[in-house]
Amino acid sequence: MDFKVTPTVKGEDVPFENPAKAFYDAMGFDGMKEMMYRFYDCIYESEIANFFPQDEEEFAAIKEKNTLFFIEICGGPKVYKEADGMELNEFMVRIHDDFSIYDKSRLEWLGCMRETLEETDVADELKQNFWNYVEAFSKLTVNSYPTKRKFESMY
Ligand code: HEM
Repeated sequence: MDFKVTPTVKGEDVPFENPAKAFYDAMGFDGMKEMMYRFYDCIYESEIANFFPQDEEEFAAIKEKNTLFFIEICGGPKVYKEADGMELNEFMVRIHDDFSIYDKSRLEWLGCMRETLEETDVADELKQNFWNYVEAFSKLTVNSYPTKRKFESMY
């Protein structure tokens, strides 16, 4: 199992593949739900919690909705209703355009995902396959890059 993370490079092509259905088949609907709820519990306590609603009920609604996305993207039933006919990954990139996401935030997001997967009881090759998707796809949610500060060269 290799939780490798490579940095996001502005303008670089990002090839990715959706997770294998075998991951969903091994986890099942309830297993996916349990895993994704653990992931969002981690996000709620993380450095990127401020991106998300702090209200527990509103956050719970996001957990629920996002879990359905991950079920569908892994080849499970078509339960995610928000995309309105648009290809799911394309829709996801658009959703994240509303936020300023730097690679630093992506790394925090992936840190929670790594912790979650480490505590998930599923075969390593399936875990690896799911990780490869999130590690790559998350680059497409990054839309902000640090600029060199004006006086940086003075220090
Ligand atoms: C593999 C990468 C990622 C996937 C698959 C993903 C998936 C999702 C999904 C399914 C939603 C809900 C969209 C909706 O139905 O409205 C969402 C929303 C969101 N995601 Fe991500 N995400 C990813 C990476 C990230 C990263 C790196 C950040 C970093 C901050 C992030 C921050 C957010 C925020 C702030 C929202 C909106 C929550 C709200 O509705 O208030 N996501 N994401």
